[in-house]
Amino acid sequence: MDNMKNRQVILKTRPIGAPKLTDFNLQITAKPSIAEGEVLLRSIYLSLDPYMRGRMSDAPSYAPPVALEDVMVGATVCQVEASNNEKFKLGDWVLAYSGWQDFSVSNGEDLLPLGRSPKTPSHALGIMGMPGFTAYMGLLDIAQPKSGETLVVAAATGAVGSVVGQIGKIKGCRVIAIAGGKEKCEYAKNVLGFDQCIDHKADDFAQQLIDACPDGIDIYYENVGGNVFDAVLPLLNTGARIPVCGLISQYNATQLPKGPDRLSLLMGTILVKRIKMQGFIIFDDYAHRYDEFAEQMTHWLKAGKIHYREHLVEGLENASDAFIGLLEGKNFGKLVIQVNNPL
Ligand SMILES: NC(=O)c1ccc[n+]([C@@H]2O[C@H](COP(=O)([O-])OP(=O)(O)OC[C@H]3O[C@@H](n4cnc5c(N)ncnc54)[C@H](OP(=O)(O)O)[C@@H]3O)[C@@H](O)[C@H]2O)c1
Repeated sequence: MDNMKNRQVILKTRPIGAPKLTDFNLQITAKPSIAEGEVLLRSIYLSLDPYMRGRMSDAPSYAPPVALEDVMVGATVCQVEASNNEKFKLGDWVLAYSGWQDFSVSNGEDLLPLGRSPKTPSHALGIMGMPGFTAYMGLLDIAQPKSGETLVVAAATGAVGSVVGQIGKIKGCRVIAIAGGKEKCEYAKNVLGFDQCIDHKADDFAQQLIDACPDGIDIYYENVGGNVFDAVLPLLNTGARIPVCGLISQYNATQLPKGPDRLSLLMGTILVKRIKMQGFIIFDDYAHRYDEFAEQMTHWLKAGKIHYREHLVEGLENASDAFIGLLEGKNFGKLVIQVNNPL
């Protein structure tokens, strides 16, 4: 990195279908300077998350889109490289929302201090941050798991799903994981401790799910939608709960799925089985409960009850490719870009 320049990944074109490398552009600008009361942030880690696909689109959503030619948004873990703000010193670590770039300027109000020498700073983007919090609230507040229930979760080795399944085990559930490929499924069973893992790419995926759930499904934590949800729907028990967290299999879709309209099947199942299905957007709905989550998760991590896997990619120049891969299941764990070395 040239320490006088600021590399930025901007949104060049709005993708139609799957994003392409040409939808992004890596531009070089001057390193910003700071005024009184401001800090200069050096990005060390950048979080890549599925919601960013929504920000690339100008379709109405819960948050505004990234404007064309603007820097892609995203949470970062940064160090203070220069400070004109008495609350921050050179070298301090902070959680910021400074996007896909080397340097940014803040007045300090939007920063969460992470201390002088945090042991695992990037965890603020994963297990101790937005994805871990999402898993915790969606499962515990919306689904309210009980011991002995069957919990099904897809994207089960990813940032959210891996935590959902592990909290489910702590709460005494039988956890049936769904993941893409043999390696992820082995990890889900052998490291994360899930009872079974089914590969959603297998030809007989729906039959394998039936076999794995002889007592039906009490909780389906929805991360992916599409074919996985189609296989889950007929297996739902009376009183089942479905936290609707994400629908990643549909984020690149340009039209409704082909085939017969299944809305009446879905509504009929919800009615007859008295199913609770609830969407949520983590910080909009649960920001006030972050401290409760952080305290509990810190305790579980210290007790060795939660495993956390990070998929670290070196270099801001590789962020676009890594993000495209996230939507194809190429990440194995929480996807984080190492933007720069620490100070
Ligand atoms: N509501 C909220 O506030 C909130 C907050 C955070 C995340 N989310 C949602 O939670 C979900 C998981 O996010 P994450 O950050 O934890 O990502 P992640 O699981 O770390 O990575 C995405 C994973 O999705 C799976 N996937 C991708 N395309 C798929 C397809 N067509 N069919 C089935 N699975 C597919 C892949 O896993 P496999 O290879 O195992 O299939 C991929 O590794 C996403 O839907 C995201 O939008 C929602």
